[in-house]
Amino acid sequence: MSDEEVWLIEPSGPLRGDVVVRGSKNGVSKHMVAAMLGTGESIIGNAPEVGEVGITASMLRALGITVEIDDSEIRIEQGPRIEPRVPAEYTGLNRIPILMLGPLLHLAGEAFVPLVGGDPIGRRPIDFHVAALRDMGAEVEIQEGGVYAKAKRLNGTRLELPYPSVGATETILMSAVLAEGKTVLKNAAMEPEVVELALFLQRMGARIELSPDRRIVIEGVERLHGAQTWLAGDRIEAFSYLAAGLVTGGEVRVHGCPQDRLVTAITTLARMGARFEINDEYLCATAPPEGLRAAAVQTDTHPGFMTDWQTPLMVLFTQSHGMSVLHETVFENRLVYVPALQAMGCEIEVFDQCLGGPACRYHDSNAKHSAVVRGVSQLKGADVRLPDIRAGFSAVLAAAVADGPSTLRGVHHIERGYHRPFEQFKTLGLDIQRRG
Ligand code: UD1
Repeated sequence: MSDEEVWLIEPSGPLRGDVVVRGSKNGVSKHMVAAMLGTGESIIGNAPEVGEVGITASMLRALGITVEIDDSEIRIEQGPRIEPRVPAEYTGLNRIPILMLGPLLHLAGEAFVPLVGGDPIGRRPIDFHVAALRDMGAEVEIQEGGVYAKAKRLNGTRLELPYPSVGATETILMSAVLAEGKTVLKNAAMEPEVVELALFLQRMGARIELSPDRRIVIEGVERLHGAQTWLAGDRIEAFSYLAAGLVTGGEVRVHGCPQDRLVTAITTLARMGARFEINDEYLCATAPPEGLRAAAVQTDTHPGFMTDWQTPLMVLFTQSHGMSVLHETVFENRLVYVPALQAMGCEIEVFDQCLGGPACRYHDSNAKHSAVVRGVSQLKGADVRLPDIRAGFSAVLAAAVADGPSTLRGVHHIERGYHRPFEQFKTLGLDIQRRG
C-alpha cells in the first residue's frame, strides 16, 4: 500500500457489531523469527494479515528461510544456506531485525542487521540487546547503517535488564535457547506476548523456566525442532475496538482475545462507567446513558495498563465528562500523536511532570509524558497525516465522532499493525472510503 492512500471518513453515528481479532501483531513477527531456529517446519496459526508479517517474511526469505503464508497460517522452514545479512532495504521499517541477531549468530556465526525503525516513539534504543549479546560472548560492533555481530557460539550467563524491555527479553530468549550452558535473566519482561514466545520455544525443544519475580532461566540445548502453534488474540486491537464502540455510543462485541490479556483495561473502563458483558465467546462494553466519567490512568508494564492502549483511551477521554489525566511511563515520547488529535479539536495539554501517578523514570527529564484531557469536547473533522500505527487508529475514532468529514493520510501505518481495519470499520457501520 502506498503512502498516498487516504481514508475519507464521515461521522455516521454509533459503531455496532462484531469484530474477531486475530493473533497479535507483537507476537506474530517474533514467532516467525523464533521459527528460524528449528530444524524442520514450524506452523504459526491465527496469524493476522498485517504489514509486519509481510515485512518479516521478506526479511526471512532474504536470509534463506522458506516462508509460506496462506491466509492465517504461516509455514517457516530453514533453507540449506543461511545468508547472515539482513539487506539494507529493510532499514527503519520495523523493530524486528535486531531480534534476528541472536538467531543468525546461531545459524551462521555472524550477523549484520540494519538499524531498527518502528514507530517514532521514544528513542527506541537497542543498548540492552547489544549488552546482553556481548555478555553472552558475541563481538558486537555498531557500524554505519547497522549492527554487526560475530560469535563462534554464544554462552549462557547471568543478566539483569535495567528495565523489563519486551524486545530485549525476546532477544535474550532467542539467543539463550541454543547457547552453551545456563542463562539466568533477571528483571525480564513478562508481557503475554513474551510468555507466548517462550511457550513456542519450549514446544520447539527449548528448556525455559519462568520463575517468580521476573526471573527467567534458560538452559541451552544443542538443537531445536519445528513446532506448531495458534496465536492468542491481539489485546491492542481488542481494546481499540471496545473503545470504538464506547466513544461513538455504540457497542462492539470483540471475539478472539482472552479476558486475562485485558484485565486492567476492563477495570479501567469499568471505573469510567462502562458496562461490560463478558462470556466465553466475546467481550462487549457499552457506555451508560449519562456518558463516561473522567479518569487518571498510568501506563505500565504487564499486568498494568498497556502503553499501546493509551491512544484510543485519549480519544475516549475527550468524550468523557471532566478532566482526565494520562501518565506515560514506558516510552518517553509516546505522546507524539497528540498534535494530530489537537487538529481535530481534542483539548489535550502535555506536561513534562509526572501527573496522575508516582514519579517515573522520566520525572527529571524534559520528556512530555503526561497529558491532561478535557471532556466532553466537540471534535471537528480535519485533514491530518498519521505519524504512527496507534495514532492512526485514534484519528479514526476521533473522525468517527467529529463534526464534519475527515481526511486521514498515511493510513498504511494503521494497516501495518491492525488486521483489515478498513473492512472492520465498514462492518461496524462507519462511513469510510478509500482514495489514492
Ligand atoms: C514492544 C511492543 C510495543 C510495546 C512495548 C512495551 C513490539 C513489536 N512492540 O516494543 O508495542 O509498546 O513492547 O510493551 O512488540 N529500552 C532501552 N534499551 C533497549 C530496549 C528498550 O532503553 O535496548 C527501553 C525503551 O526505550 C522503553 C522501554 O525500554 O523505554 C520499553 O521498551 P521495550 O519493552 O523494549 O519495547 P519494544 O520491545 O520496542
